[in-house]
Amino acid sequence: MTAHVQLTQPDRISTAESSAWHRVVAASMAHDLPGVPVPGPEEVHARLTEPALGSRRLTWTATSGDGSVIGVAVLRLFTWPGQDHLAELDLHVDPAHRRAGNGSLLLSAAVAACRDENRRSLVATTAAEGAGEGFCLRSGFKQALSLDHLILPLSGAERAEGAEGPDLEAVHRIAGAAHPGYRLTGWTGTVPDGLAAAFATAKSAMNDMPMGDVDFGRVEWDEDRVRTMAGVVADRGDTLLTIAALHEDGDMAGYTEIVLPQGRPPRAQQYDTAVVPGHRGHGLGLWLKAAMVCRLLAEHPAFTEIETDNAEDNVHMLAVNRALGFRSYRRTREFQLDLSAS
Ligand SMILES: CC(C)(COP(=O)(O)OP(=O)(O)OC[C@H]1O[C@@H](n2cnc3c(N)ncnc32)[C@H](O)[C@@H]1OP(=O)(O)O)[C@@H](O)C(=O)NCCC(=O)NCCS
Repeated sequence: MTAHVQLTQPDRISTAESSAWHRVVAASMAHDLPGVPVPGPEEVHARLTEPALGSRRLTWTATSGDGSVIGVAVLRLFTWPGQDHLAELDLHVDPAHRRAGNGSLLLSAAVAACRDENRRSLVATTAAEGAGEGFCLRSGFKQALSLDHLILPLSGAERAEGAEGPDLEAVHRIAGAAHPGYRLTGWTGTVPDGLAAAFATAKSAMNDMPMGDVDFGRVEWDEDRVRTMAGVVADRGDTLLTIAALHEDGDMAGYTEIVLPQGRPPRAQQYDTAVVPGHRGHGLGLWLKAAMVCRLLAEHPAFTEIETDNAEDNVHMLAVNRALGFRSYRRTREFQLDLSAS
């Protein structure tokens, strides 16, 4: 029997409703993404109710005859200039209620909302070779990007047992190497005022990151926007760490960001790493990331692994990550539905 799908108001989701939501996401992730840490109930609540970066959300639940939630969908409608054509869907159906049309019902609701909002592009991420792939292909999506997810294990226990791990002495050497004309600086949360303009310029360098065929748009960063981004991460209870390379002429040549999810060690999530085009070819990407590993070890020892993802054709960043000891762990695919055609 198919479910009843209804639009819910994310800002009014109660803790009880978000626990039902959490149950579906946890069951779905355990089924399709074994080994991937499942967000806790508070994190799910925060992600549904706290403002998102450069976007707003629409949410739907699918309930069965007895009123229990069996499927959930979040549509992120991007709002910044340069991205107002784009929407992103996160859709989960409880494994016990799949292949009964529930995913399709939720998707139809999201697609109708995209049309109402004049979106030309809907993107969704799925595990490679999982249920989501068959579902997306059958629903008219096209594969737009393949991502390699990598893990850097930093745990002393794991290395003591002789398991494979990075050579931390080498990482410390890389972090401590001199790069004439450049120096490193770092901060937690919002960028210091004196660096905000340079940071916004450096962030715009992310626009040339390989994105396959994803119609992602182009975001021009300014000082307000970088502060807003840090505020969004802090409001949901996570900690944002940044290390930047400054050139002697005052430019920010590159930066790397890591997020520590609230109360959920051991896995830190890599966010951006970018080197501004005029400063590429000097090993700054490797230097920045090595310095971040050392900072994490020194300041946040409970976080003993870092996860990152790279487009499979982002050869430079993959080379940097492998040099630090990251190893492949899983793959995901980005699918895209072109809504401009019909
Ligand atoms: C993908 C997902 C949402 C599908 O939910 P669902 O309720 O099973 O979807 P439906 O019953 O509406 O499936 C519609 C069609 O999609 C295709 N499909 C769904 N699951 C599939 C699978 N495991 N393998 C191959 N095709 C599949 C089928 O053609 C199916 O029609 P059929 O059952 O008549 O053959 C669900 O498997 C899920 O939550 N996966 C994990 C999260 C995820 O990948 N989300 C991303 C999707 S945007």
